[in-house]
This record gives sequence, structure tokens and C-alpha cells, in this order.
Amino acid sequence: MKQLNLRRKSLRRLFSFSSSQRSSVDEVDTEKSVCIYQESDAKPLQKPNWRCFTYAEIHIATNGFHQGNLVGSGGHAEVYRGVLADGRVIAVKRLTRGTSDERREKEFLTELGTVSHVQHPNVSELVGCCIDLDLHLIFEFSSHGSVSSHLHEENSLPLTWNLRYGIAVGTAQGLHYLHKGCQRRIIHRDIKASNILLTANYEPQISDFGLAKWLPSEWTYCAVKPIEGTVGYLAPEYFMHGIVDEKTDVFAFGVFLLEIISGRKPVDGSHRSLLSWAKTYLDDEMVHLLVDPRLGDEFNIGQLRQLAFVASLCVRATASWRPSMTEVLQLLTDGETPQNGWKMPEGEEEDLWDFEDLDECDKTTSSSLSTS
Ligand SMILES: Nc1ncnc2c1ncn2[C@@H]1O[C@H](COP(=O)(O)OP(=O)(O)O)[C@@H](O)[C@H]1O
Ligand SMILES: [Mg+2]
Repeated sequence: MKQLNLRRKSLRRLFSFSSSQRSSVDEVDTEKSVCIYQESDAKPLQKPNWRCFTYAEIHIATNGFHQGNLVGSGGHAEVYRGVLADGRVIAVKRLTRGTSDERREKEFLTELGTVSHVQHPNVSELVGCCIDLDLHLIFEFSSHGSVSSHLHEENSLPLTWNLRYGIAVGTAQGLHYLHKGCQRRIIHRDIKASNILLTANYEPQISDFGLAKWLPSEWTYCAVKPIEGTVGYLAPEYFMHGIVDEKTDVFAFGVFLLEIISGRKPVDGSHRSLLSWAKTYLDDEMVHLLVDPRLGDEFNIGQLRQLAFVASLCVRATASWRPSMTEVLQLLTDGETPQNGWKMPEGEEEDLWDFEDLDECDKTTSSSLSTS
């Protein structure tokens, strides 16, 4: 079977294994993450047991990439449900051809080099990959799809408050693991509702690592170009200067929290940002006005205050005034919200960035940014 003519030496080396053997990306000549430590005990984990699939295997599993098995298409990929010969249900992510080969290969390697070395209940699990004919990544299937589809698709049943709260905490745990639990710091760079998937038990899983970056411990941040990600979730220092560190994800997580509380999109049809709408209601007295009307009175006011408070800290305009994911988890797991400890010092303005100039953004953003 014809293989893609992959230009990168690293990619050819990566796949010089027998497809039946356990694969490893340790030899990859890229700066991709080598992240095989668990946060609890920092002992090396067994390497993830993923493998290379033949095209025939994934073709049969997805019934020839039948349209009826198409479960999602983001900016860069089509994702098909499939069933392997042993009955395992998988998601086959086929990178779409819209972008240049170089960019597709980069995203493929970035995602593979990251997810093959992470292991956490709140991070999507890699099953394998296939580079016959096209670039494919194969994951454990998340049967409840993305959080975005539950929040925004017509005819979707509203997620209960308990599920929303569990999704918030689980996603925070996954993100904390990426930032702190790995040997290298992983910055996801595209945290958003369509990249948080739900398992059969509605356990959230962070997915889509095509833009992920690892940061060496001695670096405080890195500066990237072009700016990639999704309008509505971008931290101001990243949007304006390309600065990437953990706080990039913290900001996006704050927007995600407001999205699951309110059921609103980060940017609505009339280009109004969720942040500019929500900032009026983040005050303790008004916080109930944030809640998705589809929930009626069916929410826990204490948990709502907690989530709204954490969201308000995460979306602060100044990165250094945002909490780390360790602090976010503390705030979410401690019963009380110690608001005083998070007051801005005298003279510093409590500042939320709300993309008020989204129309302006549209004119200036490059095609690298997606809008949903
Ligand atoms: N493991 C999976 N299980 C179920 N659905 C998935 C899975 N992975 C992706 N999807 C669906 O496909 C969509 C696009 O996948 P994603 O990896 O985010 O691709 P893109 O890079 O194009 O955004 C997701 O929003 C989700 O609806
Ligand atoms: Mg995506």
C-alpha cells in the first residue's frame, strides 16, 4: 500500500518499527514531550501501549470511513467511529487535506508526540496511529461526544448541574496534570468545549493536542508565531504578543467555565463575547443570572459561586494575577471561597479582558485562528 511521502526524517524514523511492536516516540528528533510521570508518585509509568495500524484495519473498523460513522469534524480533521476486530470501539482522526502537508505533519507529530506520553483519566487515550494513505490518529472512543455538542447543538438534552460541575473539576484535574504532573510542562493552547470529550460516564477528557507545546522548566514562557487557537478563548498576552505559558490555558479554562455555567458560546452570532456579557454578573449577588436558562432552578448555588469565582480569576487580563491550575484545584475542592486572598492590591485595577473589539480582531487575525 502506498505510504505518504513524509518529508520529515523524524517521522520516517518514528515509523521504522514493525507495526506489531509496541511503538515509542523516544527516538523522535523533535522537541516533543517526553512525559511519562504520574503526579501522585512521580514514578515512571509503563509506556503507553499504542501501535501502528494498517489502513485495512481502520478501513474495516470504520466501514470504509462511512459517512454514518462520521462523529465530528473540527478545523483540521474528520473523526470517525470504528470498531476493531476485538470489539474495541475507537475514534479514527483523519487529518484533513485543507492545510499544507508540512502543517499537517507538524500537527500530527505534535499530537502524537504529546498524547503518546501522557496518561491520566482526564486526558484522551491514544490507541495508535496509521500513516498509510493519510495521517490518522486512533483514540479510545468517547461515547458522549464533546461538551460543545451538549451545550450548543439543537435538540441536545441539557447537561444537569451535577454533570457540569463534574466536568469543570475533571477538566481542571486533567489540565493540572498536563501543567504539573508530567516530566515536561505541556501547554495545550486550544482548551475549548469542542476539545473536551465525554466518556460513557460523562468523565471529561482533554483531547486535540495538535497545537500543544512543551516548555522547558527553565523557561518562563515561549513566544510563538503565528497565533493559533480559537477566538473567544485567547488570553490577551497570547493574542497580542504570542506569549505562551500555563496561564494561556488557565485563561481558556476560565472561558470554558463560563460556557458550561451559561450554555453560551464564547462568541455569539453578533460577535459579542461571552466575557463581555458575563462580567456584569460575576458579582456574588448577581451570579445566578449567569446560569443556563435550560437548567431553571436546578443548580447548586454554593458550587455556582465557586465556579464563577474561579472563572473570574482565570480570565483576569494580567496573567500573573490569574491562579495556577494547582490553585484552581484548591479553590474548587476547598468548600469555601477565600475571596479576600485573591483581591487585587490597591491601585491595581480588577481587569477582565472581554474582546470588546472582536470586529477589529476579525480584521487583524490570521487564518490560523479558528472561530469555533
Ligand atoms: N475520541 C473521540 N471520541 C468521540 N468523538 C471524538 C473523539 N475525538 C474527536 N471527536 C469528535 O471530533 C471532533 C473533532 O476532533 P478534534 O480532535 O478536536 O479535531 P480538530 O483538530 O479538527 O479540532 C471533536 O470535537 C469531537 O466531536
Ligand atoms: Mg478540536
